[in-house]
Amino acid sequence: MNSQVKITCKNAGDYFYLGSLTPQQEYGGFRCTVAEYNDYLANDALRSMHDHIALTWLLTERSTGKITAYMSLIMDAIKLSFTEKELHNLNYPFKTIPAMKIAKLAVDRSFSEKYKGIGTFMIDSAERLAWACNTAYCAARFLTVDADVEHDEGVLAFYQKNGFIPNTEFFNKNRKTISMRKDIYC
Ligand SMILES: CC(C)(COP(=O)(O)OP(=O)(O)OC[C@H]1O[C@@H](n2cnc3c(N)ncnc32)[C@H](O)[C@@H]1OP(=O)(O)O)[C@@H](O)C(=O)NCCC(=O)NCCS
Repeated sequence: MNSQVKITCKNAGDYFYLGSLTPQQEYGGFRCTVAEYNDYLANDALRSMHDHIALTWLLTERSTGKITAYMSLIMDAIKLSFTEKELHNLNYPFKTIPAMKIAKLAVDRSFSEKYKGIGTFMIDSAERLAWACNTAYCAARFLTVDADVEHDEGVLAFYQKNGFIPNTEFFNKNRKTISMRKDIYC
């Protein structure tokens, strides 16, 4: 019997809360499948936040107080070809379009057996933050990400399932990462 709980925007609040990283939190025990992302949270996330390089959001499980997932958000701008702009009905003479970037995203692997859909919930949360930003502070038409296919080819499918498509202008020839975008207004 599959006892995994499917997390959605509707029930996420029953299990988790989302908040930005604070110096008081214990986040050294976070373990996703990529060591680099564990090290980033343990050693660099707070400093990056202090220096206004990246703002990190933590998803914390209510029942245990443990960090389940994190994402780091930054401002971004992407160059789109004429065809890409047409695809998004962006009839402007310039190529560069504002965006918000998911610079880091990781889910602690110990929660994967218990829950499904946490990564997707984090992307949905980033989208809601981008909408809020658009309404009150600063424009961002797209969510962007550099899909880290060096560590796991499967992340491409994960982002595609979440509405991202690859960018032609930033196609990385060494294929360590694939630059992708999601139009948050279509
Ligand atoms: C990639 C990651 C964030 C996905 O989080 P998650 O909570 O497992 O994702 P979800 O449960 O929301 O998955 C949504 C869908 O994507 C699929 N998916 C998720 N990760 C996948 C992967 N690595 N390969 C292939 N498919 C994947 C799921 O099977 C699911 O598909 P379904 O809706 O058809 O069932 C997580 O595995 C992780 O932290 N990986 C290590 C760090 C990393 O690679 N981060 C991305 C860097 S760009």
